[in-house]
Amino acid sequence: MGKIIDGKLISKAVKDDVARETAELKKSGITPGLAVIIVGENPASQIYVRNKQRACEEVGFESFKYELPEQTSQEELLELVNKLNKDDKVNGILCQLPLPGHIDESVVINNILPKKDVDAFHPENVGKIMIGDYSFLPCTPAGVMELIASTGVDIKGKECVVVGRSNIVGKPMAMLLLHKSGTVTICHSKTKDLKSECLRADILVAAVGVRKLITGDMVKEGAVLIDVGMNRDENGKLCGDIDFESCKDKASYITPVPGGVGPMTIAMLMRNTLTAAKEQNGIGK
Ligand code: GUN
Repeated sequence: MGKIIDGKLISKAVKDDVARETAELKKSGITPGLAVIIVGENPASQIYVRNKQRACEEVGFESFKYELPEQTSQEELLELVNKLNKDDKVNGILCQLPLPGHIDESVVINNILPKKDVDAFHPENVGKIMIGDYSFLPCTPAGVMELIASTGVDIKGKECVVVGRSNIVGKPMAMLLLHKSGTVTICHSKTKDLKSECLRADILVAAVGVRKLITGDMVKEGAVLIDVGMNRDENGKLCGDIDFESCKDKASYITPVPGGVGPMTIAMLMRNTLTAAKEQNGIGK
């Protein structure tokens, strides 16, 4: 049985670190502030937003929650974003995705000031990640990198396979692995032979949102398996994109769902918000 990577424990260490730095920052009168916007009543989004607010409390940030009705117009949402852009108490702005269909997500993202874009979704921040010169990393890929680092496995020269090509996870994930000198393959729904691609992986990151897509026969003995998926199985139980039962004995390290990548995403959001607060106050970079 491979070792379980404990995302709860590792995320706590990151949050403890952020809390310590925040306490220091407060001595000079600076309290990091995060604004979280949620439009509509997507139940999963409501849970994510609640967890983000709770994390803000834990690390000592101020949090500002904006719950807008489903029928909010794009103009109204942009007005709020612009107001938050100008508010000095707000260092980070996060607009929870997905947004209702009548709102163009990219327009909203493009209107968040890059220095307050703690999701790192703005094209300016995305471009910086490509070059390798960034302040913020998108929270989920950054969290995955911390989890891999916790294993002590060196990414340099390793075969890294990312399954999924989303803007939020797959694409930036591949870039971060490349920055660490991994040999990176990105697989997606049109990949001809997913099994043979996955079988080459020393490090496999699954981020497609298809429950238990990766099964034991698709992974190499000793691989590091990171599961970004968050799905419900046939019994309504939470499960990932990796079939834990058939993969756990082949992996050297494996993340559970829940309790793997999920808690890391929020911890990295806290770190990004702290970085934003420091930079906006002329501290650090
Ligand atoms: N929806 C799912 N994941 C995320 C995320 O990391 N940030 C935002 N803003 N929305 C999401």
